[in-house]
Amino acid sequence: MNGPDKTTHFGFRDVPLDDKQRLVNDVFHSVASRYDLMNDLMSGGLHRAWKNIMITTLNPPRSDRAFALLDVAGGTGDIAFRAAEASGTGFRATVCDINGDMLAVGRDRAEKRHLADRVSFVEGNAETLAFPDRSFDGYTIAFGIRNVPRIDLALKEAYRVLKPGGRFLCLEFSSVEVPGLDRLYDLFSFKVIPQLGRVVTGDAESYQYLVESIRKFPKPAAFADMIHAAGFARVNWQTLSGGIVALHSGWRL
Ligand SMILES: C[S@@+](CC[C@H](N)C(=O)[O-])C[C@H]1O[C@@H](n2cnc3c(N)ncnc32)[C@H](O)[C@@H]1O
Repeated sequence: MNGPDKTTHFGFRDVPLDDKQRLVNDVFHSVASRYDLMNDLMSGGLHRAWKNIMITTLNPPRSDRAFALLDVAGGTGDIAFRAAEASGTGFRATVCDINGDMLAVGRDRAEKRHLADRVSFVEGNAETLAFPDRSFDGYTIAFGIRNVPRIDLALKEAYRVLKPGGRFLCLEFSSVEVPGLDRLYDLFSFKVIPQLGRVVTGDAESYQYLVESIRKFPKPAAFADMIHAAGFARVNWQTLSGGIVALHSGWRL
């Protein structure tokens, strides 16, 4: 994806590698206040089921045993809240995201849910995490990694900050390969989603980027190879909803 000429994709556009993050940041600045509503509208609520499957797979302890989760590209806190609500008193989550507007929405939500003492929010880049080596029991990233310009660096950082025995989980849009569903999905993605974005957030372009970036993301087997190359063991994945989404898993052993 990141060739020797140092270009990458921003949706279907080729852009200089160093420009991608700024363009991605513009997208999430623009949609932050309506981000959660749009997720429900676009997925018909399905994103909730996908996220719950991620939490069930993570399986944080329900006891008072300490468990530290790092949720990268955690945005408005959805994964961290779900994990906190599914676990015991020893659970703590750190939501790390590059975008202060998304984190501000998340902090607000944490207060309202009475989770502010168990979920903290930190501004940071997935490619250069400001956390010590071997400091987390779990690392999650949901619908975030395809936005990161240098995915290989983000995966190496995930490995570095996990304790031995720690688990990496990545939920990401994938490729629909069910005949019939693929055409319907394309139609919905390219015709409906940008228009929905225009009505709800006043910004069709950001949602055009979203659907294009999904098409550019590596297929599940290729992404699994990247996770393996970062050092993770026992890498596997499951596809959900006919391949709309894939959940990848790896362990730092
Ligand atoms: C689609 S949202 C996902 C939010 C949340 N994980 C969820 O599932 O609802 C993608 C998030 O990735 C963040 N992001 C993009 N590039 C990033 C980077 N390099 N490091 C950390 N976060 C990044 C964006 O700011 C945005 O909040």
